[in-house]
Amino acid sequence: MNVPLLDLKAQYATIRAEIEPVVKEVIESQYFIGGPKIAELECMTAGYCQTKYAIGCANGSDAIVLALQALGIKAGDEVICPTFTFFATAGSVHRLGATPVFVDCDPATFNICPESTRAAFRCHRNIKAIVPVHLFGQACDLDAILAIGQEMGVPVVEDAAQAIGTEDAHGKRVGSRGAIGTFSYFPSKNLGGFGDGGIVTTNDEALATRMMRLRNHGMEPKYYHDEVGMNSRLDALQAAVLLVKMRHLDAWSSGRQRNAAFYDAQFAAAGAKDSGTAMSAGGFALRYPKPAPVGARHIYNQYTVRVPAEIRDAVRQDLADRRIGTEIYYPVPLHMQKCFAYLNYTKGIFPHAERAALEAIALPIYPDLVPAQLEHVAASVIESVRSRSGSGTTGAGAR
Ligand SMILES: Cc1ncc(COP(=O)(O)O)c(C=O)c1O
Repeated sequence: MNVPLLDLKAQYATIRAEIEPVVKEVIESQYFIGGPKIAELECMTAGYCQTKYAIGCANGSDAIVLALQALGIKAGDEVICPTFTFFATAGSVHRLGATPVFVDCDPATFNICPESTRAAFRCHRNIKAIVPVHLFGQACDLDAILAIGQEMGVPVVEDAAQAIGTEDAHGKRVGSRGAIGTFSYFPSKNLGGFGDGGIVTTNDEALATRMMRLRNHGMEPKYYHDEVGMNSRLDALQAAVLLVKMRHLDAWSSGRQRNAAFYDAQFAAAGAKDSGTAMSAGGFALRYPKPAPVGARHIYNQYTVRVPAEIRDAVRQDLADRRIGTEIYYPVPLHMQKCFAYLNYTKGIFPHAERAALEAIALPIYPDLVPAQLEHVAASVIESVRSRSGSGTTGAGAR
């Protein structure tokens, strides 16, 4: 049995009949940039994300650049971001000439650590924004991050690239509480386009107006430029596809939650604990994702488990041998990337992120998985962990 990490063809088969006419409609209209499909997607997304405004752009990386530029971030400024995230979070800070200030993650959720965020303000004097990430589809501790931002007088940009529709414990959608939220329509996201795409959300009219200008070369009115923006427009074909997919988004996210609950139950029955329990506590050598707090909504863009570092690659290989796709998100924390060597971070400075990079494995979680595939994945993981770690347990003190 083949279980890829993600099977977009399976998803497409269920929506082909809805997609083909809208793509044809855009082609017939020859209206490829701007136009009614973009306006409709922006309106639907603002509603979905519980914000007043949503502005489409070319991808989730540009979304972060647009957000930071609209907030006035410029060369020489410092911007906090987690070290355990996809590269774009920090790459977008760098693109503005600003300096990323990295902080550690919470070992239970992989999300940005508030204590580490607070500590960064003690060592850096020029921090002008915080960019927390809602990693893998789970809300970070936004109450804590917003409180730090307020206390320090800096805005929060929520990198929600992986988290459209995610809710915090108050039932608030991500991207609605910070100054700006940023999203990606990369095909592997819960709401993915047929190519690149992104969107920003905000409740602030002035920021919305500025981002609308910035995504179109800073132009307003036509051919007049008070500031330099970029070409970062979402195209109408993507918007047409995304509007169709939006109708299915909640059902797809529920399917991911159902699959996650199945894995959780299988792993717990095998003796595994959730990631709120450190690997060093011993027991079965597997940690499944810690359940989201009551009231919160985790959309499981990824389902990431931990196994001890010394068996992680062997477990991955066992799964590959059984034709099960996995991935490591992320093998190198950003403070250890060569391109950021000039920032002089030392190995060991962010132990939780460094540990996560050695222990994490993402398993197939997409909603189209059938029960036999889910059973195959769960059984294969359990069997591999059991055989690779001797008794299947990791003793106290194990990494
Ligand atoms: C956390 C995070 N931020 C930003 C991005 C960038 O999005 P895009 O690939 O659309 O530029 C991604 C994409 O994977 C992401 O996962």
